[in-house]
Amino acid sequence: MANSADEVPALDRYRRNAERLGARFLGLSSEYVLRSVATFIPTEPAHILDVGAGSGRDALWFARHGHNVTAVEPVEEMSDQAEGLPGSEKVEWISDHLPLLEHLKDRAGRYDFCLLSGVWHHVPDVHRSTALSTLVKLLGSGGYLAMSLRLGSDTDGKTNFDIDIEDTIALAERVGLLLRHRARTQSNQPANIAAGVEWEWLVFEKRAGNAT
Ligand SMILES: C[S@@+](CC[C@H](N)C(=O)[O-])C[C@H]1O[C@@H](n2cnc3c(N)ncnc32)[C@H](O)[C@@H]1O
Repeated sequence: MANSADEVPALDRYRRNAERLGARFLGLSSEYVLRSVATFIPTEPAHILDVGAGSGRDALWFARHGHNVTAVEPVEEMSDQAEGLPGSEKVEWISDHLPLLEHLKDRAGRYDFCLLSGVWHHVPDVHRSTALSTLVKLLGSGGYLAMSLRLGSDTDGKTNFDIDIEDTIALAERVGLLLRHRARTQSNQPANIAAGVEWEWLVFEKRAGNAT
């Protein structure tokens, strides 16, 4: 199984365009981006995992709300942009990537909420089942996984893989997740709005008694 960052096709694009993309992502508000899954975000201090955290907009926001945050991002040029921003001193950054998240192997059951925002279309179909198994292991029983699925044409230079929503739900259910919520939102970026890109947000709960 490929798990070298060199083999993840989207990463090179993020490396080359980190400054532009990172600034664009930091320019959005987490309240707005996460509006359709807000009711699932813990209100009391919790352990939160942000995978594919980019330049850290949401990881920093969670930290400023008192959560204990682990941010995973494979592209240093992206994660470096969070340095010195409010909340950054409270975020643990780990350089790693799906499908395996090797560096988090000893953290089974630790997280109450896992965010995968804008990442799923970069994970090739062949790795998606493994990626979901990895995430479900990291969640505690009753924990939530919130993920956004990019729907629409590849405006980003052929680094995106197609997503079938029903296939994703079926895969997730197979690894012990229960679908709790789904919502369709428009893109947050003008070029993608013009191209008709939409996002499907899915929230899954880890089934109680699922020890995987
Ligand atoms: C569209 S950006 C979203 C960044 C951030 N979540 C946000 O909403 O601002 C996608 C991010 O996913 C990261 N990424 C791509 N493939 C990944 C993988 N296989 N595992 C973890 N992160 C990945 C990229 O490096 C990039 O920072």
